[in-house]
Amino acid sequence: MRTIPSVLGEDQAAFLVRQRVARLATSDGMGKPHAVPVCFALARASIFIALDEKPKDVPVSRLKRVRNILQNPDVALIADRYTEDWNLLAFVMVRGRAELLDPGTEEHTAAVRLLRGKYHQYEAMRIEENPVIAIRPESAASWGALEEPETSGPRVLDTIHGRRSVRRYLQKGVPEDLVERVLEAARWAPSPHGRQPWRFAVLTKEATKERLARAMGEEWRANLEMDGQSMEIVEKRLEGSRRRLLDAPVLVLICLYLEDLDAYPDAERQRGETTMAVQSLGAAAQNALLTAYDSGLDAGWMCAPLFCPEKVVEALGLEPSLVPHALLTLGYADGDPPKRRSRKAIDELVVYRD
Ligand SMILES: Cc1cc2nc3c(=O)[nH]c(=O)nc-3n(C[C@H](O)[C@H](O)[C@H](O)COP(=O)(O)O)c2cc1C
Repeated sequence: MRTIPSVLGEDQAAFLVRQRVARLATSDGMGKPHAVPVCFALARASIFIALDEKPKDVPVSRLKRVRNILQNPDVALIADRYTEDWNLLAFVMVRGRAELLDPGTEEHTAAVRLLRGKYHQYEAMRIEENPVIAIRPESAASWGALEEPETSGPRVLDTIHGRRSVRRYLQKGVPEDLVERVLEAARWAPSPHGRQPWRFAVLTKEATKERLARAMGEEWRANLEMDGQSMEIVEKRLEGSRRRLLDAPVLVLICLYLEDLDAYPDAERQRGETTMAVQSLGAAAQNALLTAYDSGLDAGWMCAPLFCPEKVVEALGLEPSLVPHALLTLGYADGDPPKRRSRKAIDELVVYRD
């Protein structure tokens, strides 16, 4: 079933749902126009606009747009794309009648949920205490290149192509806000049932990194010896790994956290649940890696914690419910990584079945 107002064409709806801001035009009883930028959410047969806390000096009932709607419910909402490349200009305008939804009603609750789903900033605002504007669209008009311009694809693809694993860093500190940005990206990864089955430990102090390196080193030494490696090779590899941990300005340990997942009576479904959690940990890691690269940082991935999770938990004093899986190193690359990077051709990876 279509979840968008039926007066909108497919292209118009697709354009509108990707826009983060629109302009709401209202007019008073005398026909005097008034237009303001608004955040909005599109739903079955309606467009919702929150009355949030931004205008602190006026109660929401005194807002001009609210008073106008009470006097004259005819409104227009326009969302547009402007770029210097005028081939990409576009807009969609919706005309309709607006009403105010009172807090506590079913539709108001649904609208607040929708708006918070689109704008995470609303999670920290008490928008549920204010009325929500609901526009019931009656007609729609549009112009220009409604389809997504190609430039928004390649921007992401440029980051994907540019990112590479870095294993040697400059001794240049990483600003805290960049680390926070990387964690923020990880936080927004998709996850099974939205449970976010991962937690992050950020390590920056030399002594902490040393403790981690020692704990993982012991395990690795035992494994390398079991593989029959010579003492010389074992020592060389261990020192290399220790240096990698100590030289990276920031380490982010990504741990699996299974406590919030669904519980099933049968082992097979439970295994599926755990696999999904691990898949989503990979998504969180990739979000972090791409955002690091996009923010001018470099990053690398070390799998060592996966092979000695209890030792890592003990060395870092973490909750026993955490299962360390991946260690991301963050910093500024000490030169381009020497390793050749290549990928299999696309036709080796993909089959099409009509
Ligand atoms: C699950 C996983 C584990 C990895 N573990 C390590 C590791 O322990 N040490 C390492 O140097 N690189 C590790 N990597 C990085 C890969 O070697 C690297 O992504 C791959 O060689 C491709 O190179 P690129 O990232 O520069 O494109 C790991 C990557 C993934 C996805």
